[in-house]
Amino acid sequence: MNAPHPAPSHLTAAEAEARQLDAADPGHRHLFHVPPAEGGRFPEVAYLAGNSLGLQPRATRDELLADLDAWRQLGVEGHLEAERPWLPYHELLTAPAARLVGALPAETVVMNSLTVNLHLLMVSFYRPAGRRTRIVIEDAAFPSDSYAVRSQARFHGLDPDSTVVRLTPRPGEDALRTEDVLDYLATEGDRVALVLLGGVNYLTGELLDIPAVTAAGRAAGAVVGWDLAHAAGNVPLALHDWDVDFAAWCSYKYLNSGPGALAGVFVHERHLGDPTLPRFEGWWSTEASTRFEMTPVSRPPATVEAWQISNPPIFAMGPVRTSLELFDSVGMPALRERSLRLTGYLERLLDEVTAGRPLTVVTPRDPARRGCQLSVRIGAGSANELTKRLRHEHGVIADAREPDVVRFTPVPLYSTYHDCWRVADALAASVEKNR
Ligand SMILES: Cc1ncc(COP(=O)(O)O)c(C=O)c1O
Repeated sequence: MNAPHPAPSHLTAAEAEARQLDAADPGHRHLFHVPPAEGGRFPEVAYLAGNSLGLQPRATRDELLADLDAWRQLGVEGHLEAERPWLPYHELLTAPAARLVGALPAETVVMNSLTVNLHLLMVSFYRPAGRRTRIVIEDAAFPSDSYAVRSQARFHGLDPDSTVVRLTPRPGEDALRTEDVLDYLATEGDRVALVLLGGVNYLTGELLDIPAVTAAGRAAGAVVGWDLAHAAGNVPLALHDWDVDFAAWCSYKYLNSGPGALAGVFVHERHLGDPTLPRFEGWWSTEASTRFEMTPVSRPPATVEAWQISNPPIFAMGPVRTSLELFDSVGMPALRERSLRLTGYLERLLDEVTAGRPLTVVTPRDPARRGCQLSVRIGAGSANELTKRLRHEHGVIADAREPDVVRFTPVPLYSTYHDCWRVADALAASVEKNR
């Protein structure tokens, strides 16, 4: 059994401050299920791993069950007669997903999973020709992206080692500087076919200047795509106005849609309906009104839905729909404001704990260069071992990226100041001071 919360009179000044901040700035935790803690003195975990898998919204279960009930009651007729008919079900997700990333509905679709979508987009947008063959990624790209671009190079008969350019931070620095990406594009841009970067880096939590890199890449004649797995639902985005060529993101992190949840895709309006773009097709690539004409040749719409291939998994769409409704009702501007307050608070506490301990915050210190995640490099011991101790001894859930990074992410929808205080308290108890 976990001990109940200590009475306020037993609180340290720091914990009391966290409680006061929560009272003044409560967020939306009541809309989520927070798992029980296995260790520590609080009944619920301090959940700081929303950058990996977001928590379950309370509304999700009933919405999912309602979709299951429609199948039970209607069988095949549910395609047209369910309360949310399955044939056009994906359209319910389009407008809220578009609002989330600053896109037009015609530019946005929810389908498949992230790496699959990156491949489908590269079929259209990675078109090496002549000297222009390179794909630019960050050296600390998520491995899936790295494997994806290397396999695309191979698919085009190119050597992945020379085709894929991995941009590294300056010596002694942890995060890539936007200026360095711009410098590379200014000097080598005529060799670059595709720039494919993470909007927010999965390891360091760095937010790149998406409009600046996009403009530089496009000015250099390259196509610019973004992996927004760690950016969607974390930072405000304006993909249409920023002239991004394409983007893809998953929905299981900040979008709280469940493990392996369906992913989102953006293709800029200027590419829609372009018959010269290669695209892989299936029956969901054709105009919806022609889908049941059973013709041998498709008639794709002039929207991003032309990139769809298969009929979508309805039971996977309910959780995304439920979550997007939540984002719509709270709004990204308000979430970003709370995110800046919460992450700034965690940063202040981490600065106190890391001083004198073998711990370093590697996320950029400028709030404009990051979302809500703060990554800490540990100078001794293993990241996995530390996160295990935090979990089992303190009920703090963070995640490790071996060998030496632990990520702490106060998510503005449901994390609290008290969660942040618990992180600092647990770290202080778990990591010895330098001798
Ligand atoms: C930045 C980034 N890209 C790609 C992926 C892979 O996603 P998926 O397995 O959904 O394709 C992840 C997963 O965490 C990620 O963080």
